[in-house]
Amino acid sequence: MTGGPLVLGIESSCDETGVGIVRGHTLLADAIASSVEEHARFGGVVPEVASRAHLEAMVPMIDRACRDAGVRLDDLDAIAVTAGPGLAGALLVGVAAAKSLSVALGKPLYGVNHLAAHVAVDIVEHGPLAEPTMAMLVSGGHSSLLLVPDITQDVRSLGSTIDDAAGEAFDKVARVLGLPFPGGPHVDRVAVDGNSGHVFFPRGLTSGRDMERHRFDFSFSGLKTSVARWVEARERAGEPVPVADVAASFQEAVVDVLTRKAVLACREHGVDDLLIGGGVAANTRLRAMARERCDAAGIRLRVPRPGLCTDNGAMVAALGAAMVSRGCAPSALDLPADSSMPVTLVQV
Ligand code: KG4
Ligand code: ZN
Repeated sequence: MTGGPLVLGIESSCDETGVGIVRGHTLLADAIASSVEEHARFGGVVPEVASRAHLEAMVPMIDRACRDAGVRLDDLDAIAVTAGPGLAGALLVGVAAAKSLSVALGKPLYGVNHLAAHVAVDIVEHGPLAEPTMAMLVSGGHSSLLLVPDITQDVRSLGSTIDDAAGEAFDKVARVLGLPFPGGPHVDRVAVDGNSGHVFFPRGLTSGRDMERHRFDFSFSGLKTSVARWVEARERAGEPVPVADVAASFQEAVVDVLTRKAVLACREHGVDDLLIGGGVAANTRLRAMARERCDAAGIRLRVPRPGLCTDNGAMVAALGAAMVSRGCAPSALDLPADSSMPVTLVQV
């Protein structure tokens, strides 16, 4: 295993069919097919459409990843696959493909947590993780603060969203502003020309009492409603909606809360390293404010490049390679696809 174990990772929990190949800490291939355009007209991911698209894309993506990496399936040391959380039918396609490869090739199989993989992907970008690392995971389905002593087997939850996920809030506000799905990248783009001080939107769960009961939890549903009400009031009055200013003001509220709580979690738990992962970590303003606040607090910040923040197969391969390197035992061949896999369970 010169350079570390060679691992192929399969991701199919939502609308991206991703197959990545990693050797140790080095990314060799990251093949992705997305069905996002097929869902756009519905304004959200349609599970059956996603499953069908995974079925069609899986073998071509496996072939492409091997070609890009210049390896043969026989060369692999292990197969890793997202076992959960995610859409049940979509997960099943990836899990079935991974099991078939494992049996046909006689290679060990690792069924891993999608959320832990969002954290582990940074290994291929910035090297091994500090232990412990504080991880903030912000995606379309999840917003969590995690204390991570060992990404291969010990992930602890400090808090999470009590209603909408951060990415969900971006997507819903984008819809209110007439921007396409998925909204996050569009809000990010139009906000560049907006004034983030135009409207002061509420910062959920940051008041004195909430900080006692929900110190590291998030809430974005009130913020989304507040933006919708503000926009409706403008429309009712027949006034134009300043889309860029509203987008920037909304984004500022989300990013302010996320970075404030992440830095506080690091301070209170004596952790000097913060890693931000998940689709929303691609957000320009989040990356900038996190950098400022971490610098001021003496915290080392790591954020994978935007292309590795959204769903992909490389993240699954990266976590699988870390597990093989650590000597973790493989999963059973009858491992389940667990749509509600808890964030604290790294491997099934
Ligand atoms: O991690 P991910 O690709 O899929 C899930 O596991 O959910 O995250 C997708 C989410 C979507 O809500 C999308 O709008 C959001 O990440 N997102 C962004 C940006 N790029 C993607 N949100 C804000 N700014 C972005 N640049
Ligand atoms: Zn994800």
